[in-house]
Amino acid sequence: MQSKSLPAGKAWGGRFAQATAPSAERFTTSFPFDQRLYREDIAASIVHCRMLAKQKIIPRQDAKQIISGLKQIEKEFEQGTFPASPSDEDIHMAVERRLYELVGSVAGKLHTARSRNDQVAVDLRLYLRREARKIDHEIRKLQKVLASVARKELKTVMPGFTHLQPAQPVLLAHHLLAYAFMLQRDRERLLGQFGRMNTLPLGSGALAGTTFPVDREWVARQLGFTSIHENSMDAVSDRDFVAEFLFFAALVGVHLSRLAEDFIFWANPLLGFVELPERFSTGSSMMPQKQNPDVFELIRAKCGRLFGNLINLLTVLKGLPMAYNRDLQEDKEPVFDSVDTLNTALPVLSEMLPKIRFCRARMAEAARHGYLLATEVADYLTSRGVPFREAHEIVGRMVRFCVEKQKRLEDLSLEEFRSFSSRFEQDVYDWLTPEAAIARRRAPGGTAESNIARQLRRLGL
Ligand code: ARG
Repeated sequence: MQSKSLPAGKAWGGRFAQATAPSAERFTTSFPFDQRLYREDIAASIVHCRMLAKQKIIPRQDAKQIISGLKQIEKEFEQGTFPASPSDEDIHMAVERRLYELVGSVAGKLHTARSRNDQVAVDLRLYLRREARKIDHEIRKLQKVLASVARKELKTVMPGFTHLQPAQPVLLAHHLLAYAFMLQRDRERLLGQFGRMNTLPLGSGALAGTTFPVDREWVARQLGFTSIHENSMDAVSDRDFVAEFLFFAALVGVHLSRLAEDFIFWANPLLGFVELPERFSTGSSMMPQKQNPDVFELIRAKCGRLFGNLINLLTVLKGLPMAYNRDLQEDKEPVFDSVDTLNTALPVLSEMLPKIRFCRARMAEAARHGYLLATEVADYLTSRGVPFREAHEIVGRMVRFCVEKQKRLEDLSLEEFRSFSSRFEQDVYDWLTPEAAIARRRAPGGTAESNIARQLRRLGL
């Protein structure tokens, strides 16, 4: 008769005369969170099992039984009927325990030439590989949204800021595409990590490798990995790929938070550059007039957890002795959290951005105040032969004069202009509109309209 449960209740029970304390069980279990890896765990187990049969390490008939059990377990997870047990240490033990219940003692052959240490490493790589592709897709979607808004607002003029002080006029499209480039580099970063993420640790055993004639290259191909880990100790303890991903996620968070901050600023009624869609705003329980930019604020705040997850993992990894240590179990929650955060933040941004109304008149009007054209006047003088530093000095004095007289530079008469420099001619006025200032910035990378098309081409958008 086949035994229907693991020896002594645990896969490693043989060594132990006493049962684990319930408090220790509760403290050490990872099943509540790592059950998210069930698909990857089962997929890797099925390939591992096929390989064992192919290499004649276990009989083909046994492999068949094991695989049919594994498929049934996958169904149970999918239907939410998987019967979890409080003593399940992690997803791997839960699946194996259930496999025993379903197919009997032949289940015990699955773990031949394998350890949970290489098993968990392969699961996490498979998981992150899938999620990375999804996130890349979401970032691309957001880039496309930015591009389509940029196209719609191709002529919208606004003040550009440095130090959050009015600086020079720019096109809104130019401002928005700056984010598309940040996101492009994020995608390149992710792609760069992909090769390092996509290697097979399975076959490394607990730390020293395996005595069985496994075919790791075959397993790698079946699971879509591009290569195998060449060092078993590295394979079971390497979490570089997780750290890289968490850094990537943190940096995406930085970029999204900057974008969010811009919109929060623009939505301030004192500025009135944008009107946020009501369906993506909230009110105040006390102040009836409020329309608050909560979605953007939360996107800005999500950096807290995204940075925290990176620091969390780096701290766990620091000083870990070779090779596997249970500490590594703490790698999962930060990954899941960063994945979830990006998977919610990116789509809501993509959905909300096209519904934002840009108040073109307000933006254009704002670009006419705050001496944003001072650089134009300096450039004008420079183009008439005045050394730039001297021109800067002259225009500085002109701005000071205008501040005192409460005038704009373009309001000065030609006489007044000439009282500062004899190089000024009537044509200086042609330079003194935000539109002209923008159009003149044709050098590659500048805010001129012709460069917007070039940027969109570069980004393939
Ligand atoms: N739950 C463990 C983890 O996430 C799986 C590996 C456990 N291995 C061990 N030897 N205790 O890391």
